[in-house]
Amino acid sequence: MNAVHGANPLRDAADRRLPRIAGPSGLVIFGVTGDLSRKKLMPAVYDLANRGLLPPGFSLIGFARREWQDEDFADEVYQAVKQHARTPFREEVWQQLSQGMRFVQGNFDDDEAFETLKKTMDELDQAQGTGGNFAFYLSVPPKFFPVVVQQLKKHGLAEEKGDSWRRAVIEKPFGHDLASAKDLNGIVHEVFSPDQVFRIDHYLGKETVQNILALRFANTLFEPIWNRSYVDHVQITMAEDIGIGGRAGYYDGIGAARDVIQNHLLQLLALTAMEEPASFDADALAAEKTKVLGAVKLPKDLGKSTVRAQYAAGWQGGARAVGYLEEDGIDPQSKTDTYAAVKLEIDNRRWAGVPFYLRTGKRLGRRVTEIAVVFQRAPHSPFDHTATEELGQNALVIRVQPDEGVTLRFGSKVPGTSMEVRDVSMDFAYGESFTESSPEAYERLILDVLLGDANLFPRTEEVELSWKILDPIEQYWDRHGKPAQYESGTWGPAEADEMLARDGRSWRRP
Ligand SMILES: NC(=O)c1ccc[n+]([C@@H]2O[C@H](COP(=O)([O-])OP(=O)(O)OC[C@H]3O[C@@H](n4cnc5c(N)ncnc54)[C@H](OP(=O)(O)O)[C@@H]3O)[C@@H](O)[C@H]2O)c1
Repeated sequence: MNAVHGANPLRDAADRRLPRIAGPSGLVIFGVTGDLSRKKLMPAVYDLANRGLLPPGFSLIGFARREWQDEDFADEVYQAVKQHARTPFREEVWQQLSQGMRFVQGNFDDDEAFETLKKTMDELDQAQGTGGNFAFYLSVPPKFFPVVVQQLKKHGLAEEKGDSWRRAVIEKPFGHDLASAKDLNGIVHEVFSPDQVFRIDHYLGKETVQNILALRFANTLFEPIWNRSYVDHVQITMAEDIGIGGRAGYYDGIGAARDVIQNHLLQLLALTAMEEPASFDADALAAEKTKVLGAVKLPKDLGKSTVRAQYAAGWQGGARAVGYLEEDGIDPQSKTDTYAAVKLEIDNRRWAGVPFYLRTGKRLGRRVTEIAVVFQRAPHSPFDHTATEELGQNALVIRVQPDEGVTLRFGSKVPGTSMEVRDVSMDFAYGESFTESSPEAYERLILDVLLGDANLFPRTEEVELSWKILDPIEQYWDRHGKPAQYESGTWGPAEADEMLARDGRSWRRP
């Protein structure tokens, strides 16, 4: 094995098949009683422990306003793990993990609570050997990001002493436009240096998203045709079949484009369209993503190349669904988009003239996220027109979720005496090709934070460039009329179909 290095002996090991195990450390979760923490973060911590990827003395500190003791907190984590963990429950893992659990009660503006937090961290350094290494996970409503970061500074908690590290993990949304994202970056970087900040875009933690890079750059098959000479257009879809649920307070005023396109879909676009990075180091990856996001161009006529809409009542999964404006907590005059579709272009040699269509929406036909690279038709066909009537365009579809995998669609002869060509599919499914199941995105991302591995976290520049792309669209929508409507359970508004029809194309029905 390679030489041991710092607090993280396996990180630099040449053999990448060895497990990446976090060194001595702890995680502080602000907003630990919240939805995200219970459903995703607590189970992810347990799953990491169960997989043997956390150090023996790993510590978990919860921070929120409830009047809880450490035991109440541990009990809450236990319930969350029992309900939501991916891996089986093992008593010995739980016993070890629960020894390092503490709860700190307080408001975010409460100085005394932050002093208690400091003492708790010191105590854990002694009792659990965390070595002063702590990550602060801000799983809190976005308006509290600044105050928590400033409190960490005020109480000396962001300071890295000796060899120890301190890191900040910030949930989405990172700002609501370019100006607010810049303000937030300013506040965060007054306290933490760029390499201490980990902005969560949980899509980047998904195996299928990381596989975009493997597919493109570990093979010879795809890259030669991954350009304007062969690709007709690209469609990136994130469709949800649910409505806003109980999240009216968060969603209204934000909408689909800010909630999904600004972060997840533009990150998927960047990974699909970027050039090959010099290496898979965080710096090299960020450089290529930044370059391609910087080359994204909005079409001149935003009225024709963007669509926003709201779901109206309809049927979904056999049940009657109410329209967005009838949902609890939504202003009946709200103009918030629950569906957004945009056409983007990329101004560079590889992609000039190839549209990237991005769409996302709630209460659509099915829950699916996919990237479809649609190829040009063959330049010449020796077959009769009638023989190829049912032939579509070749497509490579990266299925991000569910049914994770890749599909290649191409034409094939229909068995029989005549020459008739029709579309067929060749499929790779994760579930069939690999025995191990994919870790949850949050497992991967929390582990990466503890390892200090920043590959899967968008940088300041990427976040700001994404807002720069979205801001003019949001401003255009603010100035122009109301969102269109679409029936719940369908694939979106007619206006979105018309947008593609004008280009002689149509949306895929995944
Ligand atoms: N939920 C999701 O699926 C999801 C998905 C992606 C991103 N996110 C992001 O993740 C973050 C957390 O979301 P969430 O849905 O978990 O939020 P949430 O359910 O509203 O939880 C908020 C947490 O913050 C605490 N809190 C609120 N005000 C506080 C104050 N003044 N002082 C101390 N604690 C306070 C609450 O604790 P007490 O009320 O117990 O004090 C609670 O633990 C947000 O940034 C959200 O945008 C969430």
